[in-house]
Amino acid sequence: MRLFVAVDLPWELRERLTGLAGGLKGARWQPPENHHLTLRFLGELPRTMAEEADLALAGVQARGFGLVLHGVGVFAKPGRLASLWAGVERNPALDHLQAKIETALQRAGLEPERRRFAPHITLGRIHNTSPDELAGWIAAHNLFRVDPVPVAHFTLFSSRLGKEQSVYTPEVEYELA
Ligand code: 2AM
Repeated sequence: MRLFVAVDLPWELRERLTGLAGGLKGARWQPPENHHLTLRFLGELPRTMAEEADLALAGVQARGFGLVLHGVGVFAKPGRLASLWAGVERNPALDHLQAKIETALQRAGLEPERRRFAPHITLGRIHNTSPDELAGWIAAHNLFRVDPVPVAHFTLFSSRLGKEQSVYTPEVEYELA
């Protein structure tokens, strides 16, 4: 199974995020049902490892928090699809939750995540866009801000890669204190 751990988002927030999707020719925007905040990508795991990961996640103890979204940005690398995202305001409770998940999964036998945690919500992808056009999109949405949205659980998702869009299915929810 291809798995990842994420914060599921309420529908009103997904609608707000959908309002950012536009104004860039050739971009492929995520449908609202795919919006999420990834905490840890697990990748393809055999069922026994997935069960170990689930047990480990069930043991994570962390507090709920208010999720604040702020601004938009682009991850771009030459020759690759650029990804367009909404920013997530840094928050000690979010960092704590992510660190607890990382530790729990390593104890369950997963390889450590080498990438630094850069919380974001992917909105879409694009290739070969001029820096000016990207800068225009960022400038148009720079003041995007969503006041704290309560986060009371995190979720283990499975992902099926599709031709047009991946299909993400919530498999298990883990409550926060
Ligand atoms: P992204 O939003 O930055 O693309 C489901 O695919 C989630 O897992 C996405 O949010 C995606 O992050 C993340 N993801 C996909 N492949 C990944 C990888 N190889 N390493 C880290 N995260 C990945």
